[in-house]
Amino acid sequence: MSTAPMSNSNPSIDAPSLRSRHPLGHLPAVRNGLLALFDQARDLGPVVELRMAHTTITVISSPSAVHHMLVKNAGQYAKTTRGYQILRLLLGNGLVTAMGDDWRQHRRIANPAFRREAVAGFVDTMADSTQAWLDSLPSKPGSVPIAQAMHRLTLEIAGKTLLSRDLSARGDTIGEALETVLPGFASLSRSILPHPWRWPLPATRRFMRGVRTLDKVTYEIIRERRADTRNHPDLLGMLMLATDPETGTAMSDQQLRDEVLTMLLAGHETTANAMAWTLHLLAKHPDTAEAVHAEVTQVVGTGKITAAHVGQLDLTGRVFDESLRLFPPIWVHARQAKQADVIDGVSIPKGRIVFIHTFGMHRHPDLWDAPERFDPDRFLPSRRAAIVNGAYHPFSMGQRKCIGDRFARTEGIVLLAAMVRSLRFVSVPGSVVVPEPALTLRPMGGLPLRVSRRD
Ligand code: HEM
Repeated sequence: MSTAPMSNSNPSIDAPSLRSRHPLGHLPAVRNGLLALFDQARDLGPVVELRMAHTTITVISSPSAVHHMLVKNAGQYAKTTRGYQILRLLLGNGLVTAMGDDWRQHRRIANPAFRREAVAGFVDTMADSTQAWLDSLPSKPGSVPIAQAMHRLTLEIAGKTLLSRDLSARGDTIGEALETVLPGFASLSRSILPHPWRWPLPATRRFMRGVRTLDKVTYEIIRERRADTRNHPDLLGMLMLATDPETGTAMSDQQLRDEVLTMLLAGHETTANAMAWTLHLLAKHPDTAEAVHAEVTQVVGTGKITAAHVGQLDLTGRVFDESLRLFPPIWVHARQAKQADVIDGVSIPKGRIVFIHTFGMHRHPDLWDAPERFDPDRFLPSRRAAIVNGAYHPFSMGQRKCIGDRFARTEGIVLLAAMVRSLRFVSVPGSVVVPEPALTLRPMGGLPLRVSRRD
């Protein structure tokens, strides 16, 4: 661990630039591997410029720059990038995409649903849903499409905990819609056209088809809740009771739709990928899987996992933390500079799109010993203190930090503990697992793993 935070004070210099002779700059290289391209930028310096066709972007990879952009000077960096413009077509003005007073008001309404006591109350559902999934597996060893299984399971948990709704019957519909929306998002965000979603391109049509399906499901959920006379003290209940402090009016169906869809997607797409990557790592590191098994047997035994166990499952939690380091589901953070600025002594012009290369920083040789090695012990309290502030940020930092970080880590621990206690996971021989960087970091090919029961 070496990089000390640098100062952001003047005088500034122009950013070093990753050169390209192609008339479109680095845009064609994106198709061959965005992670590799951003890694090249990271290796050139902490603040580096890349030309993508007619646009210049800045890639940043230093902890002090991350802190500057997400915490210290967060107000000067807006969610107005192309990615957020496309995301707004999907999520409208929900908590992830909202800005300014809208965002502040909605965050205040949603906060209670994510407090410690509320999340502790979700552990029972997390454990029950995981047990039901374990029971549904065939008794003989076989290959399981892990990414899809984790998506269905985490969607079910998000539905039951946040909306008091069993969404398992809608899992396939939502899953298929996401299979349409996510590749559409990737094509639109990398298109050479300035506003590709305004054109009837195949990618636009595909993306909007998925949006319409998700719209339909979300409005159904809201209609069903309005017709339900019981009191549900969940996130949806809080949203429905909330009123505008100035006008006194409740949220419209459209506003509820944006928040519900945001929570469903933010609350399951990320954790599903985190779980899939963690099981992949345990399949590659059977010694660690056995150590997790020993911990769960000692802490929980054969009974049900409860909220009281979560804090004691120390290694299990560190395995999850290390998985988020190696495979952060949100692998990049993008913002647009509202004003000219200076980051790490380098000039950032007004309007510049800046990407924090989270994936590359989590594996930066200047920030981590043996960065490519899977080593959950780097999160032991004695070693955690050496991690430079800003070097590790799977849930982002500052005021726009993930509202669901406690929910996600609790869910990760409960699901992992229950799964490793019952199952062994082995990689399919000859399979190569490649991370696919789009809206989230998904394992290409769905990550089939061989699964066998321990008993
Ligand atoms: C491992 C799992 C998770 C990861 C890695 C993750 C990561 C993140 C990151 C990086 C952000 C910032 C995004 C941005 O700047 O646009 C974020 C925001 C957010 N996340 Fe998560 N998240 C996870 C789980 C969850 C869960 C379980 C929920 C809800 C149940 C959730 C709800 C949200 C919401 C609503 C926001 C927007 C917060 C705001 O701007 O005020 N996330 N998440």
